[in-house]
Amino acid sequence: MNAKQELLAKIGDRSAVVGIFGLGYVGLPLALCFAEAGFRVLGFDTDPDKVQALEAGRSYLRRFPDSAIGKARASGFEVTGDYARAAEADALIICVPTPLDAHREPDLSFVTATADALLPHLRAGQIVSLESTTYPGTTEEELRPRIESRGLRIGDDVFLCFSPEREDPGNPRSVTRAIPKICGGSTPACLEAGVALYRAAIERVVPVSSTRAAEMTKLLENIHRAVNIGLVNEMKIIADRMGLDIHEIVRAAATKPFGFVPYYPGPGLGGHCIPVDPFYLTWKARQYGVNTRFIELAGEINHAMPDWVIDKLAAALNARRKPVNGSRVLVLGVAYKKNVEDLRESPSLRLIAALKERGASVDYSDPFVPVFPRVRNYAFDLRSVALTPESVARYDALLLATDHDAFDYELIARHARLIVDSRGRYLEPRANVVKA
Ligand SMILES: NC(=O)c1ccc[n+]([C@@H]2O[C@H](COP(=O)([O-])OP(=O)(O)OC[C@H]3O[C@@H](n4cnc5c(N)ncnc54)[C@H](O)[C@@H]3O)[C@@H](O)[C@H]2O)c1
Repeated sequence: MNAKQELLAKIGDRSAVVGIFGLGYVGLPLALCFAEAGFRVLGFDTDPDKVQALEAGRSYLRRFPDSAIGKARASGFEVTGDYARAAEADALIICVPTPLDAHREPDLSFVTATADALLPHLRAGQIVSLESTTYPGTTEEELRPRIESRGLRIGDDVFLCFSPEREDPGNPRSVTRAIPKICGGSTPACLEAGVALYRAAIERVVPVSSTRAAEMTKLLENIHRAVNIGLVNEMKIIADRMGLDIHEIVRAAATKPFGFVPYYPGPGLGGHCIPVDPFYLTWKARQYGVNTRFIELAGEINHAMPDWVIDKLAAALNARRKPVNGSRVLVLGVAYKKNVEDLRESPSLRLIAALKERGASVDYSDPFVPVFPRVRNYAFDLRSVALTPESVARYDALLLATDHDAFDYELIARHARLIVDSRGRYLEPRANVVKA
């Protein structure tokens, strides 16, 4: 049997060991998915806290109870920081971060560091799959030469794929197994191995012609969101000037049964993906002499939204003869979207910083974030305020930034002096609600 046949046979009888590198929002669900499909999973992470938590059977993602980790552990899920154990794995799946650097350019250092750490442990018969969102060409330009430098032939000895992750944080109905998975291979044999691997754990695998096509597919999905959110945020500003409520308009338009996809405006863009990924393409497109104008424009509009919301809040306070300076403001929700605990790139970070810069005294309430954690670029020494009639009435303004379902909106509306609603939660007009 050649290397491919051996790998396919191991995938077929579930004796293949699946190594997952990076056990965050993407890697951990994937690890559990492969464990559930009957594979022995070996998880790797450079964060000792995560390794320790999982080894102790503790989950750090709200969507998984500890019992889900325990169940996977019982079927052989192990977690380690020791890369030497990569040699045990037949599949090496990379799910590490791909942020932007200080100049808003792709920071591939996590991907290249993982690849470099893996290199000494590569052997014939393994499949390497990159899942981190990135620009077209990363797999061929960064991973392929590294693997070949070990004297291993891509498509004969080692199989190389790109298969982007699709996650829907905060959606309890979203199950990794049921989300169709795109897969592109470096060679036809790589694609065959990749499709076989993912098909063993995921209901539908969608093959595409190359790793570049798979990388670009993921970017199209996320850029589609970023641009449409930019569009609806611009529509919000226009509607506001015209005295119209954009949320009413979007809900009405969404009744069209074809040709319209609703996107909802907010205080800006958040999360690890939508504010970041489009600029991976912008950077790469420059190499081809192309400007990504839609991406830049949407970025500009979305980036300006927190300031627009703050201006609305300032105007609402002003109408009540109050300056922002010295006012007490409670920010409702600091996670970047509702019903999640993830603060990455959350517009609330900019809202809080901007309010403080203008002299407001700021608190926050978020049932998913009891204590404000350390985050990149921001340090706030704050704890979540419990919402009671007394606490709500204490503030000059409440700024609804993230519309968690767990908030008691009726209690808030009954006791708040002023609510600045950036999410369209209060559709009916109320004397104390200003839409932003
Ligand atoms: N979060 C999402 O909803 C989502 C959805 C689709 C795609 N993605 C993409 O998936 C990738 C991972 O995102 P995430 O949200 O899971 O990030 P994350 O920060 O939650 O997890 C990444 C993990 O990788 C670990 N890590 C960093 N360097 C490592 C290394 N050298 N070896 C092993 N582990 C290492 C980190 O400690 C962390 O636990 C990114 O490219 C992201 O764009 C994320």
